[in-house]
This record gives sequence, structure tokens and C-alpha cells, in this order.
Amino acid sequence: MNSIFNRTSVRNYLDKVVEDEKIEKILRAAMAAPSTGNQQPWEFIVVKNKATLEELALSSPYSKCAKDAPFAIIPCHRKNGLKYEMYLDMDMSAACENILLEAVELGLGAVWIGVAPLQDRVEEVARILNVSENLVPFAIIPCGYPANEVNHQDRFDKSRIHYIE
Ligand SMILES: Cc1cc2nc3c(=O)[nH]c(=O)nc-3n(C[C@H](O)[C@H](O)[C@H](O)COP(=O)(O)O)c2cc1C
Repeated sequence: MNSIFNRTSVRNYLDKVVEDEKIEKILRAAMAAPSTGNQQPWEFIVVKNKATLEELALSSPYSKCAKDAPFAIIPCHRKNGLKYEMYLDMDMSAACENILLEAVELGLGAVWIGVAPLQDRVEEVARILNVSENLVPFAIIPCGYPANEVNHQDRFDKSRIHYIE
């Protein structure tokens, strides 16, 4: 799968609108992720509003790039009614990775900005988005057409592989 190897964090975006069809494809990929017992704990907030993107950019010292993104996805998880709460982070991470990979497939670039498990960031993003009581923001994923050529690294390292035969 080329998108795995072509993916890299993209933090600078062209001032170009991303088609709604592409955003939906990205969300379709997110929801195709595996989750514990297929519990699908996710909801996705799509932010296109400039003022809200600017607020998200200020939500942590490492989220500045959200400011100039045409949109950002904020994957959130439900709080209530989950069967396997202890696996939430893994379920949400799988969805986030699918978002990053589908973005590459569509000629876009994105970056995963960590929110959970840092409580102050979770609360700040929840406040900015005015999310319902039952939702917890997990990450901020700004996305857009890359402004620069994307250079990915080859991190393959044979010494990290340990066979038991
Ligand atoms: C859980 C997680 C949290 C991250 N948080 C941030 C962040 O707050 N700000 C940011 O610019 N990048 C963030 N990143 C992106 C990493 O910095 C990036 O993936 C890493 O440096 C490797 O580079 P690459 O994605 O280009 O391969 C985060 C990545 C992960 C998986």
C-alpha cells in the first residue's frame, strides 16, 4: 500500500478548498478502522470555520498548523454505553491512522495532533467545539493540499526485528 510509505506529517497547506467528496471518503476510511468488539466508539467533528481553526491552533503549543488548514477533523469518542472502555485509545488510534492514510490516497496531507490523554487539552478542545457531555475529543487532524513537496523517510531497520523460529 503506497500511502503507508508516502505518508508523512503535513503541516503546511495550499490555500485551496478540499472537495466535500474527499472529506467524506476520509471519514469513510476512518469508520472502516478495526475496533474492540466492533464497538466503533467514534464520532467525527469536521471544522472548516476559520475562527474555530484559529482557536484550535492555540489549544496547545504544538497545534499551530491548524490555523491555515482548510479543515480539520476532530475524532471524538463517546463516554457512555461502551463495552470495552479500556481499549478506547487503540480504537481511536486506528481510526486516526486510517484518516492519515486516506488523505495521502486523495493527494492530501494531514498531521495527527495529540489531544488525549492530556486532560487539559481534552478540556480545551471540548470547550472550543462545545461538544456534548457524552463526547471526548481524542486528536486534532488538520488536513489540506500540501504546500510543499512531501519527503517521507524510510525507517526500515532490520535490527528491530526479532525472529523466534
Ligand atoms: C499520538 C501522536 C501525537 C502527535 N502530536 C503532534 C502534535 O501535537 N503536533 C505535531 O505537529 N505533530 C504531532 N504528531 C506527529 C508526529 O510529530 C510525527 O508523526 C512524527 O514526528 C513522525 O513524523 P512523520 O509523521 O512525518 O512520519 C503526533 C503524532 C502522534 C502519533
